[in-house]
Amino acid sequence: MKPPSELALVMRAVHEEAKGWRADLESGAMPLDTVEIYEALVKSTPTKPDVGGPVFDSFAQMYQHAVDSFLLAPNIDVGKAKFNNLVDACLSCHQSYCPGPMPTIRKLKVKETLASGGV
Ligand code: HEC
Repeated sequence: MKPPSELALVMRAVHEEAKGWRADLESGAMPLDTVEIYEALVKSTPTKPDVGGPVFDSFAQMYQHAVDSFLLAPNIDVGKAKFNNLVDACLSCHQSYCPGPMPTIRKLKVKETLASGGV
């Protein structure tokens, strides 16, 4: 077995972080935090050399925006909707670059409490 790439290790941390946020939401708490992840996504060495470039960067940027917008949510109802947007941002990048973990990532979604499906 080859050792995991730098990016794979970043991803494991990103996944754990998202699981922690999900656990907070499920227990009725809105995480208060700020997270800078964009640089780590675009600067870590991936397993496959074709992972990178402007399209990958824009997915990384969309993910950073989704994280910011989630962590700034004014209340837990909006937070749950924003968290699901964040999971969609994981899935968009994965769709193009690494479809394998998508079923696992989808399980992160939380049940939303806003009738409108969020903001
Ligand atoms: C900007 C693109 C991008 C975003 C956003 C992204 N991923 Fe990834 N992810 C990747 C790529 C590319 C890999 C393959 C990494 C490698 O092997 O070098 C990966 C790998 C993984 C892996 C497998 C790691 C391993 O052990 O090999 C998991 C799990 C994962 N991502 C979960 C997530 C979750 C959960 C999110 C959102 C919270 C997320 N990813 C957001 C691109 C992304």
